[in-house]
Amino acid sequence: MIKKHMYFIILILSTSIILLIISCSDDSSDEPTTLPAPILLEATAITTASFNISWIGSTVATQYLIDVATDDQFSTLLSNYNQFVITSESLQVTGLEDDTRYYVRLTASDGTITSEFSNMRSATTEFEFVPEPEPEVFLRDTAKFPVGVALQAGRLNGAYASRVSNEFSSITGEFEMKMSPIFQAEGSYNFTPGDALVSFAEANDMQVHGHALVWHNAVPSFVQNFSGSDEEFEQLIRTYIHDVVNHYKGKIISWDVVNEAFDDNGGNLRNSVFRQKLGDDYLAKCFQWAREADPDILLFYNDYNLFFDNSKLNAALAMVADFQQRGIPIDGFGFQAHIGINFPSETQIRSAVDKVVATGLQVHFSEVDIRINPNNDLTMPSSSRLQAQRAKYKEVVEIFSKIPKEQQFAITIWGLIDSQTWLIDFWGQPEWPLMFNNDLSPKPAHTGFAEGLME
Ligand code: XIL
Repeated sequence: MIKKHMYFIILILSTSIILLIISCSDDSSDEPTTLPAPILLEATAITTASFNISWIGSTVATQYLIDVATDDQFSTLLSNYNQFVITSESLQVTGLEDDTRYYVRLTASDGTITSEFSNMRSATTEFEFVPEPEPEVFLRDTAKFPVGVALQAGRLNGAYASRVSNEFSSITGEFEMKMSPIFQAEGSYNFTPGDALVSFAEANDMQVHGHALVWHNAVPSFVQNFSGSDEEFEQLIRTYIHDVVNHYKGKIISWDVVNEAFDDNGGNLRNSVFRQKLGDDYLAKCFQWAREADPDILLFYNDYNLFFDNSKLNAALAMVADFQQRGIPIDGFGFQAHIGINFPSETQIRSAVDKVVATGLQVHFSEVDIRINPNNDLTMPSSSRLQAQRAKYKEVVEIFSKIPKEQQFAITIWGLIDSQTWLIDFWGQPEWPLMFNNDLSPKPAHTGFAEGLME
C-alpha cells in the first residue's frame, strides 16, 4: 500500500520536473526581455567646448543612445544630443558653451529592446577667458617722459608700424645696433638696419637710443678671437666706437656704451674679451672714446638684476662714483628691468632707484618686460596673472614717475607683442611679458602703464 503511494508521488514529482524543464527550455528559446543599462564613467578631457565620455556597455547591445542636457531632469536636451546614436562605447561631446554644466545619460539598444537609463554624470566645461578690450590710450600722448620700445627694423610694416608710432616716442634697436651685426670686419660696417630704425624714428617724431657699443654677448668672432697685440685691439675698439658714434651723430640721442660689465652675485668685473685685452679700466676708456666722437651724445651704463642684486648694484655705483671723481664722462644709468609680477618687490625697486637717483645721473628703465609665467605653470595667460601684470606695470611706471623730472630719461619696453619676446627662447617656456597681444590689441599691462602715468 505504502509502495503504491510512493510510486504515485514519484510519478507526480517526475512529471512536474519534466514540465518544469520543458517550460524552462521554452523560455530560453525566446529573445531576452531586458538589456542591462550601461554604466557611464566620469567625463574626461574637458575643454571650453567639449568633453569625452565612455561607458561599460553590454555584448548584446548594438547601439547606444546618448542624451546631453543642461539640467539634471533632462528637460533641456541639446538638439544634437537628443538620443544621439552611436555604436562604439565612447564619444567626444562637442560644440558646447564654456563654463557650463552639462548632464549626460544613455541607454543601450539591440535594435528591438532598449535598456533602462545609465547612471547620470555631469561635467562643467572650462571657462574661456575672453579679455575685455582695453581702453585706447596712446602712451606717448599721456607720458611726460619718452616711452620707448625695442624693435627689429624688418618688422616695421603696416599695422605693426602704426601701433609703434602711435604709442611710443622712443626706439631702441633690439639687436641691429649691437657690435656683432654692425662690425663686419676692420673698417667695414653694416649700418643698414640701424639706419632704417633712425629713418622710421625721424618720420614719426621719435628719439633713438643706441644699444649697445660694447656687450660681451654681441662680439663678432674676429673681435672675440683677435690675434693681434693688446695695443692693436685697443686701436680696433677705439676706432669702432669712434666710427659708430660718429655715424649716428646728430641722429640718435644716447648710447649704452657698455652693457652688463659686472658678474652676477658678487659684482666682479666680467672677464670679457674687452677686460682681458683693454684692462680693468676698459669701461672708462670706452666712455671716453664715445665722448671724443660726440660731445653731445648721452652716455649710459646698462645692466640687469640691478633692482635686487646688491653686489652688482654696488659695483655699478662704485664705477659711477669713480667716473664722477675722475671726470670720466657718464650721463645715464640703465636698469634693464627684466622682472616678474612677484619679484623684485616694490620696496626693492624703489630702494635701488633711489641709490641711482642720488648719483644725479639720468635714469633709464631700458628693457622692461614683466613675466607672468616664471614657474612655467601656464599654457595660456590667465586673467588673474594678466591683472597682476597690469598692477606691476603700473607700479614700475609710478616708481619712474617719482624720479626727479630732469633725471627721467625714458621707460623702454623690450618688444611690442608677446609672441616676439626674447624671453620665450631665453627661458625655453611660454611667456607673455609685454603690453600688446599678438593681434596688436593692448593688454591689461598697457592699461597698467597708462594708470601709472595718471598718478
Ligand atoms: C636680446 C634680444 O632681445 C634678442 O633678440 C637677441 O637675440 C639677444 O639679445 N639684455 C640686453 C639685450 O641688453 O640686448 C638682450 O636682447 C636681452 C638681455
